[in-house]
Amino acid sequence: MLTGLRAADIITKKRGSPAFPHGQELSKEELEFLVQGFVQHKLPDYQIAAWLMAVYFNGMTFAETANLTNIMLHSGESINLHGLADKGITGPFVDKHSTGGVGDKISLPLAPIAAACGVQIPMMSGRALGHTGGTLDKLESIEGYRVLLDKEEMCRIMARCGFVMMGQTQHIVPADRLLYALRDVTATVESIPLITASILSKKAAEGSDALVFDVKCGSGAFMKSREDAQALAESLVNTAAAMGKKTSALITDMSTPLGNTVGNFLEIEETLDCLEGKGPADVMELTYALAAHMLLLGGKAASYDEAVSRCKQAVATGRAFELFMQNVEAQGGNPSLLLQQRGRRRSPHHAVYKAQRSGWLDIDALKIGLAAVRLGVGRNRTEDAVCPDAGIVLHLHTGEQVRQNDNIMDIYAKDAAALEQARPLLDEAVRYCDEKPQQKPLVYQEICS
Ligand code: URA
Repeated sequence: MLTGLRAADIITKKRGSPAFPHGQELSKEELEFLVQGFVQHKLPDYQIAAWLMAVYFNGMTFAETANLTNIMLHSGESINLHGLADKGITGPFVDKHSTGGVGDKISLPLAPIAAACGVQIPMMSGRALGHTGGTLDKLESIEGYRVLLDKEEMCRIMARCGFVMMGQTQHIVPADRLLYALRDVTATVESIPLITASILSKKAAEGSDALVFDVKCGSGAFMKSREDAQALAESLVNTAAAMGKKTSALITDMSTPLGNTVGNFLEIEETLDCLEGKGPADVMELTYALAAHMLLLGGKAASYDEAVSRCKQAVATGRAFELFMQNVEAQGGNPSLLLQQRGRRRSPHHAVYKAQRSGWLDIDALKIGLAAVRLGVGRNRTEDAVCPDAGIVLHLHTGEQVRQNDNIMDIYAKDAAALEQARPLLDEAVRYCDEKPQQKPLVYQEICS
């Protein structure tokens, strides 16, 4: 631990004083002192909590955020994918990260599409938490699919399929695990520099040279307003640039669920639809947009239009579907069984949710996400299990007209009690308007480094 520094002085510097009412930028050494001291159990939780709260109120500069990110990154292991060309690990290594949403299964069709176009994707994803779904839970709904891989397996699968989808090991960015747990209980999660350092440190540890961010905005997102989403997107792009990584960020709508399905196996099925070119229009559009940015960052297309057209080709030729199935097999699943189960695997605890009146629909993402958690799709605590066959199939969407008693959605629950518990949330999720609600754009803004 660095000597000559005192935690209380550093906290005061960030907190501010009459001379510096908004606090001051901390140096790399001061940040190292705090983060390393915390990880090595040399500083108590309460001092780190006080610093986190000072950051929550006074923010951080991009340089400070980049320093914090680097310090967190070096708290554990990093994966270096360079120098492995003889094993088929050639790059370019480009990943995509979503800040999380409801029905957001984009990573699943996107990875094989981008891989089919020559990008290699070492994708490390998370689990469902809160009202948002998790890519790992969706993948594990495929019987036998394994997301815990060692580096050798990771490389073998990436060389074979062009992409690999896995969870983080305990050794990747331990500082984030500890800091996130403390932020969770000290009301300091919603801080743009802290979110930036948390996301970027993990992404940088995973071996990608370039990153595309899908920053969600709306009721079902972390960032509810356009202003906050833009601030997070700019923070991610500028901090990554300060660390020498190429990035793009898209700010996209999450006021209503994405696609037709919310649920683990249900979203795998929707992925197969997308890879056959017949997925819901919003999922297809966003998948192509994000995958195209990956191709641009990886130098696999000269223009956005060329990139989109290459992605569409990868679907039209069946190559992306083929790579997805190869990946399922390589990660322990059984492609034939998956196809047999497609459209058939549903929890027996089922109900039809009918329109209570006529009108124009406005379906809220957050409430649908919360209802899905009750149904068993997500979890309330990290140690809870999810139900792979629970979920929601939306037959009607925001902006569509409905008549009383029309079937708006089919709901599938982990048990009969959950089916009943989800109903009041669904009643709140579905609003009936007298006029057609204004259509929101799917992509609000693009920010490139
Ligand atoms: N996702 C993360 O990985 N970290 C945060 O702090 C917030 C969202």
